[in-house]
Amino acid sequence: MFSLTVFLATVAITISAAQNTCNTQSTINRPVNGQPVYWPATWRENQTAPALAEDQSCSWIVTIPEGYYARLIINGKMGDPYSHFLTIDSAGNLITSSHETMQPYFFPPSKFTLSLSNDEVAAFAFKIEWSPFNIPTSYDAGIGMQPHVLNITKDRFAAEFNSDAVSLLVSPVDPKNYYSLRSTLVFEGQDFNGFYRTNLYLLYRSRQQWISSKQTIYVINLEASNKLDTLLIQDAQYTRDYADYVQLNCGGSTTCIATVDGGNKKSAIASVLVSQNNETLVDIRMDPSATMKVYYGSETAFAFDSTYNGSTINSLLPLTFYGSYVTQYVISNGKATLTFNIPQ
Ligand SMILES: *[C@@H]1O[C@H](CO)[C@@H](O)[C@H](O)[C@H]1NC(C)=O
Ligand SMILES: *[C@@H]1O[C@H](CO)[C@@H](O)[C@H](O)[C@H]1NC(C)=O
Ligand SMILES: *[C@@H]1O[C@H](CO)[C@@H](O)[C@H](O)[C@H]1NC(C)=O
Ligand SMILES: *[C@@H]1O[C@H](CO)[C@@H](O)[C@H](O)[C@H]1NC(C)=O
Repeated sequence: MFSLTVFLATVAITISAAQNTCNTQSTINRPVNGQPVYWPATWRENQTAPALAEDQSCSWIVTIPEGYYARLIINGKMGDPYSHFLTIDSAGNLITSSHETMQPYFFPPSKFTLSLSNDEVAAFAFKIEWSPFNIPTSYDAGIGMQPHVLNITKDRFAAEFNSDAVSLLVSPVDPKNYYSLRSTLVFEGQDFNGFYRTNLYLLYRSRQQWISSKQTIYVINLEASNKLDTLLIQDAQYTRDYADYVQLNCGGSTTCIATVDGGNKKSAIASVLVSQNNETLVDIRMDPSATMKVYYGSETAFAFDSTYNGSTINSLLPLTFYGSYVTQYVISNGKATLTFNIPQ
């Protein structure tokens, strides 16, 4: 009996000794030798995440020198539903989660914060690497009446766009798994020394377009994911009125449904290079007093195709439109649900 008690006590001590603690706030700077920083120091990506003791509350301020970005991976899982990991970038954007599987985060200068607090025992480890922004600017494009579409995460890429104000609307290839959008950073200014505003993951999560407050923006994708996530870039004068704005996303299916609700304002659905096939509107629910206008491009007189009244459009279905570079369906007001049939 005595030896069993001793044995159990020994086991308990061994387990608690194996749990990491981190009840501090600390700063991590890029090491002069340029090597990555791991926490705990002995953890590597090919190992499972070590245990983190219960009731920890920790934060790390990670500094990023000018001209560099930081890439963070976290391997971790909280052990209770109330605890979370949190990152805050230099523009103040927050991302929280309770389960991390080493999908990378990217941060521009001058710092980001990583913090956590947990009740129950959790699993946690991270790695930070610093690299220079060594992607040459591919081009500098003025955005006018014509929209511009990019495969934004397919390759490493950087470009500058100019307009009175620039509108960005992003659509991931997989709306359920869009971590790849974290590698695309958006700055106001001519390069990565401009004002960092957001990344495309945050932008998609907002479910809305983003409009710059400056004439020039710089968009850089730091890691190739080989995914066909699309970014629609327009002159914001044509999109600013949209109280709700979505890209049609078929997710590989031939039937695509999109819903918008602009309240008493306009809303729009952009169909961007879905397949270049014609798209057939097979069902529509909209306010009978509203109108739907179709444009092959941004909402300009030049790109205008047709107008339909909510009261009569149902009797005209099915209606086929060209699947052009960008086809847009603009609803004057109210909630609208459009169902398309698009051969893949
Ligand atoms: C894990 O990766 C390290 C290099 O980072 C390597 O030395 C080690 O052999 C790897 N271990 C396993 C089990 O693959
Ligand atoms: C994106 O990549 C796909 C596959 O390579 C290609 O078919 C499509 O035209 C590209 N889109 C743009 C806007 O470049
Ligand atoms: C799209 O529709 C037009 C007009 O009906 C037709 O001429 C064209 O062949 C169609 N394109 C495709 C890819 O089906
Ligand atoms: C839409 O309704 C207006 C006013 O009721 C009417 O003048 C117009 O002809 C209608 N347009 C179509 C395409 O049905």
